[in-house]
Amino acid sequence: MEVTKGKVAASFWSDKRVFLTGHTGFKGAWLSLWLQSMGAVVKGYSLEPNTTPNLFTEAGVAENMETEIGDIRNEAQIAESMTVFNPDVLIHMAAQPLVRLSYQEPVNTYTTNVIGTVHVLEAARKCPNLKAIVSVTTDKCYENKEWDWAYRENEPMGGHDPYSSSKGCAELVTSAYRRSFFNTENSASLASARAGNVIGGGDWADDRLIPDILNAFEKSEPVVIRNPLSTRPWQHVLEPLSGYLVLAQQLYEKGDELAGGWNFGPKDDGCKPVNWILDKMVAQWGNGASWELDKANNPHEAGFLKLDCSKAANKLKWQPKWSLEESLELIINWHQKFLKGADVRDQCIKEINSYYKQ
Ligand SMILES: NC(=O)c1ccc[n+]([C@@H]2O[C@H](COP(=O)([O-])OP(=O)(O)OC[C@H]3O[C@@H](n4cnc5c(N)ncnc54)[C@H](O)[C@@H]3O)[C@@H](O)[C@H]2O)c1
Repeated sequence: MEVTKGKVAASFWSDKRVFLTGHTGFKGAWLSLWLQSMGAVVKGYSLEPNTTPNLFTEAGVAENMETEIGDIRNEAQIAESMTVFNPDVLIHMAAQPLVRLSYQEPVNTYTTNVIGTVHVLEAARKCPNLKAIVSVTTDKCYENKEWDWAYRENEPMGGHDPYSSSKGCAELVTSAYRRSFFNTENSASLASARAGNVIGGGDWADDRLIPDILNAFEKSEPVVIRNPLSTRPWQHVLEPLSGYLVLAQQLYEKGDELAGGWNFGPKDDGCKPVNWILDKMVAQWGNGASWELDKANNPHEAGFLKLDCSKAANKLKWQPKWSLEESLELIINWHQKFLKGADVRDQCIKEINSYYKQ
């Protein structure tokens, strides 16, 4: 067996059968490409992509995998889809992931993120070959005490807004399923992964900082910003994805000793205020790019929450690799090449390979 020392091991993933929910989304499209590039046999289950453009379509993600358009709120369909595929590994990322939308659609947010997770885990119970499950939540699952210390995995769950609270609930569901059903020698091992704000090329979601900035740059308009002084833990999309892959592999190999919650945050220099990011991106984009303050009354957004990633560093030997500055440069380059008509799939695979080799 290959000793991975916290790195993603292509030899492990080659020919593994991986069931991935949320594959049509931003992180899911990147993860699908990464798994495909390592020779995994991947099946995705998600709703249709909900933005135009979107990375799933632009990068031709469906070309090298099985894909099913379905809703995780449909218990029978997700069960049928997963059991027929019969996976070795399950990565559950499908979610309603937007804080502001969760204020407008709390019921959809809870049914998708909480009941949807129950359905996914119920389906997983029926899969005889399944050995490792990673359920993706967020750093926002913690009860945010607005303090200066980093949050460890044993901190209480919470959440002020419906999105954060739904992910705290999904964590509680995962924990109960681990103790009730995924607790025997023959059952799969179940972990959850908590990461912070993810950035990267190919994100066109509404109401996220980087897509909003690039959209305004493209139109030669000033970027309108709600909270320029908000500090967040920003990380390139490949960072948490590498964490999920390393966790799933080690969970598969070592079993229940690694079951539980895991934080995957950025390097310390990844925690920067929004205005720092804007200034860097404005300077790199050039062409008269600029930003200004939004004076509208906006809903509550939680303050800074920092993750303590000592557990992943010590037990998985996982470490983030790219600085925030490097990540922003990669995003601007990615987006400018996209606008010039570059091959999107090729761009993503090159970025994955360069991450992988470091
Ligand atoms: N992007 C971030 O900054 C960030 C940060 C922390 C955690 N996360 C988590 O990572 C995961 C992926 O986020 P993303 O940024 O790629 O979001 P995204 O909106 O780009 O993708 C969400 C995916 O979930 C699928 N989905 C949504 N509702 C569904 C339903 N009812 N049934 C089936 N599929 C459904 C969508 O079709 C899509 O494939 C989510 O669980 C999110 O909460 C994201």
